[in-house]
Amino acid sequence: MKKITVFIALCSIVLACSGNKKNGNTSSVDGAKIYKVNCTLCHGMDGKLGINGSKDITASPMTKDERIHLIKNGKNTMTPFKALLSEEEIEAVAEYTFELK
Ligand code: HEC
Repeated sequence: MKKITVFIALCSIVLACSGNKKNGNTSSVDGAKIYKVNCTLCHGMDGKLGINGSKDITASPMTKDERIHLIKNGKNTMTPFKALLSEEEIEAVAEYTFELK
């Protein structure tokens, strides 16, 4: 009887874990939309606008991690976004900046 209980407990742990993986998919966050709302003011739709001393994103040599850090903490006149966007949203918008041309 004891063995069966352990077996059932293990099964539910495995099920719970596989369920979590499905929910871990971040594709529900739209990086393009976040960019349009938060970033075009200074960078423009194509990332090249350069208002308020901002730099051309399309010419940026920054890696994804560096962009995430910059978006979170801001720099000079660029707003820090860590209080405005979630971790997931910041990652999605950082990823989107690579699509600008
Ligand atoms: C208030 C204006 C402003 C807004 C809004 C803004 N930025 Fe910036 N951004 C700047 C400025 C200014 C710099 C240049 C900072 C510096 O190096 O002095 C910059 C630099 C950058 C860079 C680095 C370019 C490089 O190689 O140096 C990236 C990437 C970037 N911004 C992405 C974003 C994203 C993504 C958003 C929206 C979540 C955003 N910015 C919103 C002003 C802004």
